[in-house]
Amino acid sequence: MNLPNLKEAQKRTNKDIKIIKNDYKVPKEMKSIGKNKKYYIKTYGCQMNVHDSENIKAILEDMSFNETSEIENADLIILNTCAIRENAHNKMFGFLGRVKHLKDSNPNIICGICGCMAQEESVVNDIKNKYKWVDIVFGTHNLHKLPEILKDSIKDKKQEIEVYSIEGDVYENIPVKRDSKYKAWVNIMYGCDKFCTYCIVPYTRGKQRSRLKEDIINEVKELINNGYKEVTLLGQNVNAYGKDLHLNYTMGDLLEEVAKTGIERIRFVTSHPWDFDDNMIDTIAKYPNIMPYIHLPLQSGSDRILKLMGRRYTKKEYLELFNKIKNRIPNSSITTDIIVAFPGETLKDFEDTLDVVKACKFDSAFTFIFSPREGTPAARMKNDLSLEEKNSRLYKLNELVNKYALEANEKYLNKVVKVLLEDYSEKDKKLMGYTDTMKLVNVSADEKYLGKIVNVKITDVKTWSLDGELIDEKV
Ligand code: SAH
Ligand code: SF4
Ligand code: F3S
Repeated sequence: MNLPNLKEAQKRTNKDIKIIKNDYKVPKEMKSIGKNKKYYIKTYGCQMNVHDSENIKAILEDMSFNETSEIENADLIILNTCAIRENAHNKMFGFLGRVKHLKDSNPNIICGICGCMAQEESVVNDIKNKYKWVDIVFGTHNLHKLPEILKDSIKDKKQEIEVYSIEGDVYENIPVKRDSKYKAWVNIMYGCDKFCTYCIVPYTRGKQRSRLKEDIINEVKELINNGYKEVTLLGQNVNAYGKDLHLNYTMGDLLEEVAKTGIERIRFVTSHPWDFDDNMIDTIAKYPNIMPYIHLPLQSGSDRILKLMGRRYTKKEYLELFNKIKNRIPNSSITTDIIVAFPGETLKDFEDTLDVVKACKFDSAFTFIFSPREGTPAARMKNDLSLEEKNSRLYKLNELVNKYALEANEKYLNKVVKVLLEDYSEKDKKLMGYTDTMKLVNVSADEKYLGKIVNVKITDVKTWSLDGELIDEKV
């Protein structure tokens, strides 16, 4: 058993990062353990977790399990969790109740918990003491060890907890079963060293560690060979790519090399304003296959709050960067993340945030009420705001954000845009996809256009999506 440890998770040393190749293997006796058995995986949280789940799926299928989308049919249930806010916690524990119910009627069901909550000391202590029926717990640093962990749990018939609060290494060659045939997530870095005072990610994901550029480029080339049209380069703060490798090779250089592979669409998330340099902006402007879409989290518009958050930029610096990007990449869309009711946020601070929203007129924004996370500095700061006041600030902010989101979308009416049709639409329309600027479009088109980048005329606009019709038959 290995339990997570908050103190260890908070540590950073100068230790070099190891790039580990060929560490993943399935023990012989586990190769057919999943024969005629089904797994169900529930994924919470960000794209990093979504991509980790793609790895977990491939590992399980290597052990002969098959996927099911019906939890009632599953022999193995995995919850890949997120720890970013309290409600993510609540959702996971709520779901666990449902799993318990299923396990009560079928004790052979195996239940596993992984992801960022599995990295939290207090959560895992709870699972160990109060949820003894959970079979396995593994963390973000060792998902490639899943076959061994499962093996030990089955052999010893007891709860198996294997979580490491280490700074982390880079594991190559973990298999992947991608959810899409057309667009792929590509990790370029793991972890985060920014330690924004509200954020739990540096503790759950470990030290910032970049993959080698050759491994990233090879993955992209392989994806092109397999017919992929789009890659999204993933990291908690991709603009800092390469800094830990000390090779004098940065995100701008990587973007350029990925662009030169000829892949049709390149996206990247998430960009911290702190590391957004001119080289990056120039490269995005230069290559038409780098999508003009930038997610640039603001968090707050108040210099005082930004300082308390440890974000290391001011309102003025954020606005300068925003304007620089808009000037050099005029067709770009920019979205953001904003936290309201950070400890000590006054009405004046909140108005500074609204000010920036008014100045930037973001294409869209994810907005959150500050949620104290155990072990983070901000969780110890005094917060006097009533729940009513917190909700009212969020409401006001959302009203403004939605207004600009609709205005941004209205500019698309009757325009012709390129859309990668990636899936069936949930609406009555047939297919859905995204523009280069990351606008969701529902398109009435035959399914033979799935996986194609087509010209679409926008016929209707809403706050969160666009409707359009196919005007290009020559694909
Ligand atoms: N690496 C990204 C953020 C990842 S977390 C970045 O730095 O931009 C996604 C978003 O969740 C953050 O941008 C922030 O707005 C929000 N968030 C993170 N911790 C939070 C907390 N404790 N309470 C409320 N929102 C939080
Ligand atoms: Fe969290 Fe800040 Fe790192 Fe983003 S940059 S993951 S908000 S610590
Ligand atoms: Fe959540 Fe972990 Fe991502 S906390 S947002 S799943 S890095």
